[in-house]
Amino acid sequence: MSSSFHSPNTLLDLLLACFFIGLCTSDCIPRKQIPYESNSIKVFREESIYNYSSILMREDLGLLIVGAREAIYALDINNISVTKTKVTWQVSWVKQNECTYKGKHPDIECRNYIRTLHQINETLMYVCGTNAFNPTCDYIAYVDGQLKLVGQQEEGKGKCPFDPFQRYSSIIVDGDFYSATFVNFLGSEPVILRNSLNVLRTESASYWLNEPNFVYMDVIPESKNSLDGDDDKIYIFFSENAIEYDFYNKLIVSRVARVCKGDKGGQRTLQKKWTSFVKATLECPIPGSILPSVVQDVFHVHHHNWRKNLFYAIFTSQSDSSVLSSVVCAYTVTDINEVFSYGKFKTPVTVDTSDVKWIMYSGEPPVPRPGACINNAARAMKIQSSLDLPDRTLQFIRDRPLMDDTVKPVTGRPLLFTKGISFTRLVVDCKIGLDGQTYLVMFIGTDKGFVQKAVNYNDEMHIIEELQLFKNPEPISVLRLSTSLGQLYAGSSSGVVQMPVADCGHYSSCLDCVLARDPYCAWDLSTHNCVTLPSPSKEINLVQSLLEGDASRCPRPVSVKVENRTLVLGNNIKLPCQQDSNLAQLNWRFESQQLNPSKEKYATYSDGLLIYNATATDAGCYTCESVERVVNKDYKRTLAIYELQIPSAKDHIGSHPTITVPLTTFENMAEATASPQHKNMVGSWVAMQVSLALLSVMMVALLLWNLCMGHLPLQKCCTSRGQKKQKALAQSESLPENTEPLQAAVFFHSNNSYRKGSSMDAFKYIRDESEI
Ligand SMILES: *[C@@H]1O[C@H](CO)[C@@H](O)[C@H](O)[C@H]1NC(C)=O
Ligand SMILES: *[C@@H]1O[C@H](CO)[C@@H](O)[C@H](O)[C@H]1NC(C)=O
Ligand SMILES: *[C@@H]1O[C@H](CO)[C@@H](O)[C@H](O)[C@H]1NC(C)=O
Repeated sequence: MSSSFHSPNTLLDLLLACFFIGLCTSDCIPRKQIPYESNSIKVFREESIYNYSSILMREDLGLLIVGAREAIYALDINNISVTKTKVTWQVSWVKQNECTYKGKHPDIECRNYIRTLHQINETLMYVCGTNAFNPTCDYIAYVDGQLKLVGQQEEGKGKCPFDPFQRYSSIIVDGDFYSATFVNFLGSEPVILRNSLNVLRTESASYWLNEPNFVYMDVIPESKNSLDGDDDKIYIFFSENAIEYDFYNKLIVSRVARVCKGDKGGQRTLQKKWTSFVKATLECPIPGSILPSVVQDVFHVHHHNWRKNLFYAIFTSQSDSSVLSSVVCAYTVTDINEVFSYGKFKTPVTVDTSDVKWIMYSGEPPVPRPGACINNAARAMKIQSSLDLPDRTLQFIRDRPLMDDTVKPVTGRPLLFTKGISFTRLVVDCKIGLDGQTYLVMFIGTDKGFVQKAVNYNDEMHIIEELQLFKNPEPISVLRLSTSLGQLYAGSSSGVVQMPVADCGHYSSCLDCVLARDPYCAWDLSTHNCVTLPSPSKEINLVQSLLEGDASRCPRPVSVKVENRTLVLGNNIKLPCQQDSNLAQLNWRFESQQLNPSKEKYATYSDGLLIYNATATDAGCYTCESVERVVNKDYKRTLAIYELQIPSAKDHIGSHPTITVPLTTFENMAEATASPQHKNMVGSWVAMQVSLALLSVMMVALLLWNLCMGHLPLQKCCTSRGQKKQKALAQSESLPENTEPLQAAVFFHSNNSYRKGSSMDAFKYIRDESEI
């Protein structure tokens, strides 16, 4: 039954996607892709150690503490390939046997995965591991340059999950350990817990927590400068199964919940339970989808005024959704508070004597307001702590912890939206641009080991670049940012990688540097290179234009040297031209005429032009120009100029012989292009010319015949733009360097698709997506 409902939904998804495709312009693809080999990254991994899943930055000690499977490392925070000290914490033989006996896998589940690392004071850290489904915590001391496990072996139940694959979150606030995890072996009993003298936990009811996936928690110091004597609050982000929808299937929704730091539980009702637990749905609509998105990670952007603190969150589409999409939304603490303090509650009603429906509670909630922290108004009513709260208030919140109002993103819609990629983790850096404005730069880890660096400029999404951090596709499971060092640390199951937040040096020209719109970088007119800010150069010499992408201050680029190429009659001639931005388009001119790529004569690739069956009339001047459109302005740049000449005897000696290729298949063509053998051909030039021309004529005829008969996949050409995009997005492989022929083949198709018109193209793109 469920599947019969499913198809209309995916259809609707698809239809909506068509409408929303306009919202996602070319900016949804990264402007640059930096492959693993050309990254300036540092790597740490140790033989036979896996699952580098927790990272604690100790900038004060110059250390990066990394928790892996059965090992904890202290790495040099400036260069993580240097290990300062390590300590192993292996599961005991007895524990491993017990775990195996209970049906768990001895080498996968019955090991000690270090999941928790917290700082206690300068020298002491708190660490918890799954310890073969028997969570255990301990202290780690860093003394005399060595890490030591103190050996206290405290009960870790409620502080760390049993299951190494389960998500969870924890923080220490004023010495109390708060966690959102599962407290039983089966992993079926979720709690949000405070381990302190007064242990407090959530009620065991599915309408409090319903198979949650805990993602993040943090504290907001709301008592600071509070006019109404409010309390500090802990916010918890998670996804869970919805109780409020009538849905054919399990529907996952994203939530934010919060509790008050000073909560002491109730006297009779909610004894030793949170009296301040309230939760609301987090909205971050995926363009083109009607299903709610699923929160995957959250980053807390601090502001000196906590009211302006932001939570950045990444979401992905429901796992059974037809189109894989990821989005980023931001929420202000104030907006979240509004919902909890003034929003309507949901209440259960019984329909047909069995079914429970959750609808808006339209009555007046009791006073003090259910779920509120103890503030001045409550104290005026002689309520000093949650123990004094009246039963009415407590019963209300016990039965109705869910708000009817939802939390909406700051801008009303996502800050970033991409298709075909699964975001896993994010961090956000605040960077002040040359214009004095603060820009929030998102660094988003993906499930394939990439990081996307993105900014939202005035509601315009811009992915500056996408960097490959891990050679093999694997999810980034932890991401940390050191603002002071300008470094990012990413962990995965195979290792840890360190990358700088910016690598401005790889922008080679002023135009490239400025159009990248990278808040960390500016072009220095005095030294002619792309520098990292802050720079010692005079501000007047620096060019950066983040919002406008205005590169008009860039000097005229040095004119391109004309290259001579030889024309071989009847052959296919390739003229290379490499663009440096995925957002740019290449235009070719022949003798100052715009070259018409729809002519059968030519094929344009992202890295060059191919002229089929060269004739004497093809001799002349070819100009390759890239056009990058930024905020409604076109930036043109001449990348290459070729003078194609019909050979006369003396030309052969001096000029670069043109790479010529017999037209058999595209693969062969590629091989021939790369082959150095063409030099030997010059000698037997004339003799070969005739036979080659003949051969080519035959091959072109064969190709045409094949096309007509439909043997060669012409339609595939139309969809390949989508495929190329997908490739870029799905990150199955990044474009390796010097694989011109391969790329050429891909982009040959891509150009064909331009001929078919963009609307067609967009449609094909969607069709492709649905096929993922
Ligand atoms: C850190 O805390 C431990 C235990 O509370 C204490 O013994 C130790 O002296 C503290 N160290 C420092 C440097 O404060
Ligand atoms: C640990 O790493 C291994 C090897 O990469 C991987 O297969 C496994 O899924 C990881 N386990 C967890 C809990 O992440
Ligand atoms: C290639 O060019 C020659 C003239 O130079 C022409 O006769 C021939 O038909 C052309 N072949 C194709 C397939 O266009």
